[in-house]
Amino acid sequence: MKWVKTTSTVSTSKERVMSGIPRIKVNNYSTFYYQYEYSLLDAMEAQDIPAPYNCRGGYCGCCRVRLIDGDVEEVQDALYDTVGDEILACCTKPVSHVEIEIPDE
Ligand code: FES
Repeated sequence: MKWVKTTSTVSTSKERVMSGIPRIKVNNYSTFYYQYEYSLLDAMEAQDIPAPYNCRGGYCGCCRVRLIDGDVEEVQDALYDTVGDEILACCTKPVSHVEIEIPDE
């Protein structure tokens, strides 16, 4: 039997391990890594961020946040029409590092 020495390509650096996982920065709250919750709203709730919501189905618009940086994709269809850089947190999930802001209203 022949033994072959291999080298590991696994990094012990936390940042490198986490590099493929979207990072979510919620202005005025915290920055955390997406844990593959169903939606951005669920991800914020898992971090105890008081994100507003009502229907959780894309109807009311209560979960509107500003997408300042990054990309999201829809997880469910929305009937509420967003304006400009707004996205619905209950209807989207991050697909890259994102920076968002919860409106003051
Ligand atoms: S909570 Fe109603 S649209 Fe998201």
